[in-house]
Amino acid sequence: MRITVFGANGPTGRRLVDQALAAGHEVVAVTRRPGSIAGRPGLAVAVADATDPGGVDAAVGGTDAVLSVLGTPYSKKEITTYSASARTITEAMARHGVKRLLAVSSSIADPHWRPTGAHFFNLVLDPLVNRRLGRTLHEDMRRMEAVIRETDLDWTLVRPSGLFEHPVVTDYHTAETSADGVFTARSDLAASMLREAAERRYVRTAMGVITTAVKPNIAKLIWNEGVKKK
Ligand SMILES: NC(=O)c1ccc[n+]([C@@H]2O[C@H](COP(=O)([O-])OP(=O)(O)OC[C@H]3O[C@@H](n4cnc5c(N)ncnc54)[C@H](OP(=O)(O)O)[C@@H]3O)[C@@H](O)[C@H]2O)c1
Repeated sequence: MRITVFGANGPTGRRLVDQALAAGHEVVAVTRRPGSIAGRPGLAVAVADATDPGGVDAAVGGTDAVLSVLGTPYSKKEITTYSASARTITEAMARHGVKRLLAVSSSIADPHWRPTGAHFFNLVLDPLVNRRLGRTLHEDMRRMEAVIRETDLDWTLVRPSGLFEHPVVTDYHTAETSADGVFTARSDLAASMLREAAERRYVRTAMGVITTAVKPNIAKLIWNEGVKKK
């Protein structure tokens, strides 16, 4: 398959590109930063902002599937990156007759998502971090989901829980709408998207994905995601 990856230079995107190339796919890696992704056999780099129709058009033409793992940090201001890029990408896909789209959203987009037994998370962390600090980001994720749902494409909204780094793919779990767990390893998120691109079990619906085989170190998680990543 020829796969176009938006957010290819991000922490999930790099894993997705590596896994796709290892599986024998051709990859078009989209980044806004020229020179930030080294060329490799099977890999073409496209420099484009995902909200710029011209750049997106060139990256999407001739591909078999588009996988978007792009993201932006929390902000008090209104965020539009997710919905604006979804509009640009889906319009380019429609123009080129490319049907298969997988776009990362979040478990938070399911209003009923409350992981079982995760009392501290459900009562303290989720309201404070996701729903207050991350309010504007998650509002735009919901707008992105609405944009994608309105298209005729073969879309899958991919909803991970809290992301963390783990070196290998584990025996991750997927479920329709959202999955019952607090954490998702980026290696598993990437692997679940590649598998779903081929298997098509969640076409025109949302796929939750969680990691249960390993748990992140919480101090490391806060450092990596909250401090170092800024
Ligand atoms: N952190 C969590 O716990 C969590 C939980 C659930 C869901 N998610 C979502 O999971 C996804 C992946 O997260 P991540 O931490 O791996 O990645 P990320 O750091 O959020 O972002 C990945 C990449 O997106 C690219 N990007 C941003 N705006 C762009 C634009 N306008 N055009 C083109 N590229 C753009 C950037 O690449 P360049 O600068 O190279 O262009 C960036 O490296 C995100 O959508 C995130 O919101 C995260």
